[in-house]
Amino acid sequence: MWGCGDNFPVLFPHPARPSWRSCRRCRSQRRSHCCQDRRLRRPRLLETTHSVETPYGSVTFTVYGTPKPKRPAILTYHDVGLNYKSCFQPLFQFGDMQEIIQNFVRVHVDAPGMEEGAPVFPLGYQYPSLDQLADMIPCVLQYLNFSTIIGVGVGAGAYILSRYALNHPDTVEGLVLINIDPNAKGWMDWAAHKLTGLTSSIPEMILGHLFSQEELSGNSELIQKYRNIITHAPNLDNIELYWNSYNNRRDLNFERGGDITLKCPVMLVVGDQAPHEDAVVECNSKLDPTQTSFLKVSNLLRGKLTEAFKYFLQGMGYMASSCMTRLSRSRTASLTSAASIDGNRSRSRTLSQSSESGTLSSGPPGHTMEVSC
Ligand code: BEZ
Repeated sequence: MWGCGDNFPVLFPHPARPSWRSCRRCRSQRRSHCCQDRRLRRPRLLETTHSVETPYGSVTFTVYGTPKPKRPAILTYHDVGLNYKSCFQPLFQFGDMQEIIQNFVRVHVDAPGMEEGAPVFPLGYQYPSLDQLADMIPCVLQYLNFSTIIGVGVGAGAYILSRYALNHPDTVEGLVLINIDPNAKGWMDWAAHKLTGLTSSIPEMILGHLFSQEELSGNSELIQKYRNIITHAPNLDNIELYWNSYNNRRDLNFERGGDITLKCPVMLVVGDQAPHEDAVVECNSKLDPTQTSFLKVSNLLRGKLTEAFKYFLQGMGYMASSCMTRLSRSRTASLTSAASIDGNRSRSRTLSQSSESGTLSSGPPGHTMEVSC
């Protein structure tokens, strides 16, 4: 196993790497025979899974696509009860998402013990805290020789990426934080958690974290699917350890105008009626309004999230308007003019979507502008 900071095999050709060791994927000892060699590469989606040793144990991640010059990698971190596939496949394999992601290499990190086929940790294993999970990310980036990222995190993953961004602000160009709760559990939360634990199983408690009560009582096919995945997960004991780390998280202590704040553009996203709605709203109030967008999205309207993600990347200068659909372009034009009419781009942006009209509205809070199409 290659340790963090080791001289690792060349995953992607890079002039700064003098030495070549055998490829982890095809085990070739010769660069010219390696599956990563451009000439041997088949024109299919490149997907490679790797593990690195870190001071807190091994971490597994999967890379899709090839690095694009002068572009950050998109790095994702999943929520409790899921792995990168069950968390992000529905979003990243969504048709409209392709025009975005083809412009970026993606690194999907699995929390330890959550990767497919992960063995159950031995009894007494000390699972890393969320802060320690964040401290594993530099080893992943060092292994890949990537210098900056755009982080996309859900729930516990959003917390981990925020902690990473607080510790390494220069390496994070942007963050998409879905259903984040940046607060430690208070004693009231603990009491409620303990009471729920008396009557509910771990899978049910995790489902209560992932979905709203309305969604759970609706018991749709989606809920049944996730209930089935979690209840029958062979690594359920590992999942419980990640769940415990999440519940023992420290407060991120975001402070508007203070030293502890996210310095990069942030898109906060919360599902309609999600259990974390209040936490995300409070988080929005603590972050820099000039850098933060807030989007409330119905789970059913995943297209809106994709569209907002495009705007977010475009705001960072990464999506040429030629990449936008005709519809998106007309909306973007409206949003741009709204910003200039308002004469003040340095205010918090609220993106909210109306499920009836299907329109996306944008503008500063209290001045939400409805953009029709
Ligand atoms: C991706 O293309 O980045 C991706 C593909 C499958 C699952 C998750 C992500």
